[in-house]
Amino acid sequence: MWERIPLKKTVKTFASQQFLLALSASVLAMTGAASAQAAPIPELVQKNGKYALMVDGAPFLVLGGQANNSSNYEAALPKVWPAIKDMHANTLTMPVAWEQIEPVEGKFDFSFVDTLVKQARENNVRLVILWFATWKNTGPSYAPTWVKTDNKRFPRLTNKDGTTSYALSPLYDTTREADKKAYVELVKHIKAIDGDQHTVIMLQPENETGVYGAARDYSKKADALMARPVPAALLKKYNKKAGDWNTVFGKDADEYFHAWSIATYIDDIVAAGDAIYPLPTYVNAALKDPLNPNHLAGAYASGGPVYSVIDVWKAAAPHIELLAPDLYTPTSQSYEKTLELYARPDNALYVAESGNSPVYARYIFSALGRQGIGFDPFGFDYTGYSNHPLGTTKTDIEMVKPFATVYKLFEGMDREWAKLSFDSQVWGVSEPDDHSDQTLDLGAKWNATVSYREWQFGLRKWDPENRNGYPEGSDVPSGGVVVAKLSDSEFLVAGMNARITFGVGKENAKKGMLLDRVEEGHFEDGKWVFERVWNGDQTDYGLNFTGQPVILKVRLATYEQ
Ligand code: DGJ
Repeated sequence: MWERIPLKKTVKTFASQQFLLALSASVLAMTGAASAQAAPIPELVQKNGKYALMVDGAPFLVLGGQANNSSNYEAALPKVWPAIKDMHANTLTMPVAWEQIEPVEGKFDFSFVDTLVKQARENNVRLVILWFATWKNTGPSYAPTWVKTDNKRFPRLTNKDGTTSYALSPLYDTTREADKKAYVELVKHIKAIDGDQHTVIMLQPENETGVYGAARDYSKKADALMARPVPAALLKKYNKKAGDWNTVFGKDADEYFHAWSIATYIDDIVAAGDAIYPLPTYVNAALKDPLNPNHLAGAYASGGPVYSVIDVWKAAAPHIELLAPDLYTPTSQSYEKTLELYARPDNALYVAESGNSPVYARYIFSALGRQGIGFDPFGFDYTGYSNHPLGTTKTDIEMVKPFATVYKLFEGMDREWAKLSFDSQVWGVSEPDDHSDQTLDLGAKWNATVSYREWQFGLRKWDPENRNGYPEGSDVPSGGVVVAKLSDSEFLVAGMNARITFGVGKENAKKGMLLDRVEEGHFEDGKWVFERVWNGDQTDYGLNFTGQPVILKVRLATYEQ
């Protein structure tokens, strides 16, 4: 049985969730009440280090699209929904700003949230809501005027040279309590309008926390806290003996202290929200360069959940389900490394943001292959805004197309995929920048090689002069493949712009391998719908995926030789 990830205070086993579902279904059958009321609140569950985001009682795969920052007003929504629809996304990620819901202290306005939820339902998509408050890209720009202009009540942190930073300090109860009050009102409101329907499936408290230009707050208050003993939970996590921060953590002390301060601040806010309506929560990270060991705190957002302080955040913030990367590094080496660093047994992989240039679309395959619970690239609406050079210059359907192509592939099987990812085994790769082959270790019996820039027929060496070059457009990496295990010798395979060639693993080493049956099909209501069998040219040279991705069900067999 799988357990609810023991992060929220009320640990629940999945068995008890199933029981509740069955119970409410039978109560509903007796009373004839609307079935929508039966489903439990979304939650993240884990089993042996594998994760599933449960939505309405079953694993859900987030095929998301995040709107641009200033699209969080009713007037912008008509330009948001068409992009999400064209993208074939099942989830829209949208900010809700503190300045928007509490422009005057103590007076709340949830009209945008009401409209957003209503229109999301009309558009048949779920919502992830981003709480832009004390931190948005580390600054307080989305805090209300009464917060961001009152440095006395809501102090900014002090830089090492004694100057005042742009960022708010996490060390003040006044700031945390004010943020918490607004967050709690937001959660209460979501519960009131959505507690029975679960259009909102996750919350992201704050956005890209940390600070640039300093490793921590260098105020007297902060110095005094640094001289105090490191909290027991953190000592335990790092297996360290008691002492003050500098003694225990040396050169990392400043960053760890700041990460601890921010993480405990947000955890306190989330805990208050959870007490009302415990939706899954995650925090997103402005990244530290995964390939540069000399990248210094402050040059990247110090204190935010970068890979080197994941353990600090885990110890400090038990109410936050997961830490998620914002991926704007287009090179495959860097992107893959970051995915690897955030897909941990204690952290479900969720790509909270990614660039929207075409090169990023293929990384959906690697993220899902690493058991990701979702992918949520940034900048998807038709408001005409482009964040180039982070993303594409395009702001119309051309921006959406590469992502739509992949999402369309998963659209009919999103639930099925999420279930397989949780219950079975999945693999996935995307085309590296150098187009090199990749090997998938599919267990003792089988393996597979994924190659790129292949024609659909034959081997490249048959054309030694490469007379016809490579398939059109294949100089820009766009390929990817995912594989899910259906049984010992049966796999679901989906891909684009790639070739997959199966081979025998150790256990079958002396045998010959054959593709017993390759079916092309699709999923409807969780059921496989057969379309045709691939054979002959379609299977003699590996299984070849073009720019129009397809799903295959592949049964492998061996023969004695
Ligand atoms: C990352 C942030 O989290 C987003 O809100 C946005 O500002 C992008 N950077 C840049 O477009």
